[in-house]
Amino acid sequence: MARHFLSLRDFSKGEIYKLIDLALDIKANPSKYGQVLSGKCVGLFFEKPSLRTKAAFYIGALQLGGQAIYYSPDEVQLGLREKIADVARTSSHFMDAAVLRTFSHEKVLEFAKFSTVPVINALSDLLHPSQTLGDLITMKELKGSIEKLKVAYIGDANNVCNSLMDAFSILGGILYIAAPKGYQPEKKMLDKTKSYCAASGAQIIITASIAAAAKMSDVLYTDVWVSMGQEKEKAKKKKIFKNFQINDKLLKLAKKDCLIMHCLPAHRGEEITDSAMESKNSVVFLQAENRLHAAKAILAYVFGKC
Ligand code: CP
Ligand code: NVA
Repeated sequence: MARHFLSLRDFSKGEIYKLIDLALDIKANPSKYGQVLSGKCVGLFFEKPSLRTKAAFYIGALQLGGQAIYYSPDEVQLGLREKIADVARTSSHFMDAAVLRTFSHEKVLEFAKFSTVPVINALSDLLHPSQTLGDLITMKELKGSIEKLKVAYIGDANNVCNSLMDAFSILGGILYIAAPKGYQPEKKMLDKTKSYCAASGAQIIITASIAAAAKMSDVLYTDVWVSMGQEKEKAKKKKIFKNFQINDKLLKLAKKDCLIMHCLPAHRGEEITDSAMESKNSVVFLQAENRLHAAKAILAYVFGKC
């Protein structure tokens, strides 16, 4: 059976650490991995826009000695032009792995059910696990350990937040989620983390106070208030989230050496100010670079190279 990368919850703590270490080794010694995908072609099926994720998997595949083909949203029209099961079975004959960015997480699961080659989740409405792997690499590089970290996620409890919850519940550490009422993590997502937290000692603490979360944290993390696909909610969410912003006032309360992280794209002036984004604490572009090393580690992993 093909090895997929759909959710971090499909991986043990040891496997996630293996992926982190592999990504850091790929970053340090890229030429060592130059033939890992030799003779393989990776297909990218994206329903939504992307700068970083497309580049990470496309260029990542080339740097690993493979090839890549990219399908824009209009070309394949997953589930519309033809059934996802038929796309998955057909493309399995042409490509050696499929990287999917979809509106609905169900589409990723459906594709994976019928694909005979590995499927990688490159963002769905529910999860963004390849982003989180890049984030974990960044935290490990800059803070040394993940299990002892306190991380404040400030903003909408969205796909990025859900994958951070998965990671921290498995690995340990404390994750504060500061979000307005009604936009905090769904009970079913929180419930799923409980047994992992019990095993790892991790804590996921939900609060509506960004100051309380920021004061104690080593990392301040945010993401857009309005995710792709939620455009109709823009006006409403902009009002509800207006105080959930990383800005100079919040930074004054935070630890001097805290990291500011953002998966990007950033909406400057909304979830993060220009000055916070450009501050000495901001590591957002290193974080973006690490998406490449993370994507290469995921590709190497699904092809059984780790
Ligand atoms: N962070 C992230 O996934 O960026 P893109 O949407 O540009 O791929
Ligand atoms: N939560 C955002 C992440 C973008 C990388 C979205 O889904 O649009």
